Amino acid sequence: MIKFLDLQKINAQYQDEFQRKLKSVLDKGWFIMGNEVEVFEKSFAAYCGRKYCIGVGNGLDAMVLIFKANIALGVLSKGDEIIVPANTYIASILAILQADLVPVLVEPDEATFNLDPTLIKEKITSKTKGILAVHLYGQLADMQAINMIAAKHNLVIVEDAAQSHGAVNQNALQNTYPTTQAYSFYPGKNLGALGDAGAVVTNDEQLAKTIYSLRNYGSEKKYHNELIGVNSRLDEIQAAFLNVKLPYLDTENERRKVIAKRYLSEIKNDKIKLPFWDFSSNHVFHLFVIRTANRNELQRYLEQNGIETLIHYPVASHKQKALSQWNHLSFPITERIHNEVLSLPMNPILTNEEVDAVIHTLNQY
Ligand SMILES: Cc1ncc(COP(=O)(O)O)c(C=O)c1O
Repeated sequence: MIKFLDLQKINAQYQDEFQRKLKSVLDKGWFIMGNEVEVFEKSFAAYCGRKYCIGVGNGLDAMVLIFKANIALGVLSKGDEIIVPANTYIASILAILQADLVPVLVEPDEATFNLDPTLIKEKITSKTKGILAVHLYGQLADMQAINMIAAKHNLVIVEDAAQSHGAVNQNALQNTYPTTQAYSFYPGKNLGALGDAGAVVTNDEQLAKTIYSLRNYGSEKKYHNELIGVNSRLDEIQAAFLNVKLPYLDTENERRKVIAKRYLSEIKNDKIKLPFWDFSSNHVFHLFVIRTANRNELQRYLEQNGIETLIHYPVASHKQKALSQWNHLSFPITERIHNEVLSLPMNPILTNEEVDAVIHTLNQY
């Protein structure tokens, strides 16, 4: 069986280093916000080319804390509208709701699965105060166009980078408008911990300070609380494991891109639509997502031929029971995407023979 993602095998590569790190944490006996968290925060900020990294409990909290910090700083107010792609993973939408803000769903660009700047413009009202741009499947949203809209309307820009560790937009314009990124290190991500973990990355000193405080009970100094914070700190042991894995991230992303190039050039089947990629460094292929009219049938066929696939995602957020107030809404592009997408095996330890088999099996379909 070719597994969609073999976390046991992926992490087995680093087992000796993990064990040495774990021993060093155990020997020190310091388990909350110690040296490993500090080192990771410095290294990951540098890796992202930004000044501050704040380690938090998971990717969802990273986004919630960015929004809550903006409210604490008076940049956003409860009830403000935040634009978000309708086809994102539900966490993006939940983060907006948990910060008492109002998500405004926008259809994505069908080619890239990311926000469509033209459709964003149509949704902007006097209540719109922010955009949550999601870099879905590992491909950066069109931040140049999004930042231009933001500059015009004075909007807060948050990037959900849970799936895009290491994706780079070479267009320098990207950095001219201040944005804050939220990362998840859920085990299956391109940079995955061995449990839950996340981070916020920003150049904004005030925002960083507020999030450092909010993640730790709203306290900068122990037993002195200035804000109504939460407990969402990056775990010391997870930070230690992330410190082991971060130096390998670029090599692993390169391997993903080699596999993606092979899929893109060698899968030849009229029934299958391949994803768009301009071959720039703006994509790190967290997922390789194809589309087909008879998705469930194709998934069964692949399974019968020993290839495991997953669906990201089977049910659109606005059709979820948890968001029943939106169940009547219609987002045709999003709904079509949810009905047609299928994620092929994609991870850095896939062998060339496994990639051959996936391509061959799809070409026989
Ligand atoms: C696009 C996106 N946003 C947010 C999250 C939430 O991250 P976490 O599971 O670490 O809370 C995930 C992953 O689970 C995700 O894929």
